[in-house]
Amino acid sequence: TTGGTDAQKRRAAAAAVEAVEDGAVVGLGTGSTTAFAIRAIGDRVADGLDVRGVPTSFAARELARECGIPVVDLDEVDAVDLAIDGADQVALADSALVKGGGAAHAREKVVDAFADRFLVVADPSKIAETLSHAVPVEVLPSARTTVAAGVSDLGGEATLRRAERKDGPVVTDNGNLVLDCEFGAIPNPESLATDLASLPGAVEHGLFVGLADAVYVGTDDGVEVTEL
Ligand code: A5P
Repeated sequence: TTGGTDAQKRRAAAAAVEAVEDGAVVGLGTGSTTAFAIRAIGDRVADGLDVRGVPTSFAARELARECGIPVVDLDEVDAVDLAIDGADQVALADSALVKGGGAAHAREKVVDAFADRFLVVADPSKIAETLSHAVPVEVLPSARTTVAAGVSDLGGEATLRRAERKDGPVVTDNGNLVLDCEFGAIPNPESLATDLASLPGAVEHGLFVGLADAVYVGTDDGVEVTEL
């Protein structure tokens, strides 16, 4: 998603990539900000850095390969040392993120949560006092209407995400659908996360609570790092 500038995103990504050590297994997130990080890791690989990347999506895998980063699946590694990933909105005081603008949040959450350290790369437009971004929920296709009803019971409004260049819905890398769930302000992300996770047929929601270790925000003249 947009809001920030490419220069801001690139600065955040470059600073986070400095944390990648030789020999590391690195979780490769999805989205326009992380794409700058994948390219920066690729530049370091060209200079001799030894890393393996665990992509979180088809798009991340494709870009990593294009950048010369050796890629492996999650089940081929014992640990992920560091994950770098973007966010659609960040509430620093709550240690909470909304992710899934690119419909990749299910695999992102698995990799980011498993990583020893998870660095978020963002621009100032993503930072909020309180989360209020619609929460993407990946659902089994057969559970589209029942999960939507459950979201409504929780006080939200679910909208099926539709594809731009296809007649019909967005289908995730896992073959599922996405409901964008509008709740207005989310003062207690942790309890909403628990409620959404309890809906049968909801494969994964885009609230990431207490998972990130640091947030790198690229600005017009530098990078602000907040340890969480
Ligand atoms: C992918 O599904 C998302 O979780 C992205 O990480 C998120 O949308 C951030 O993307 P941008 O860096 O393009 O804003």
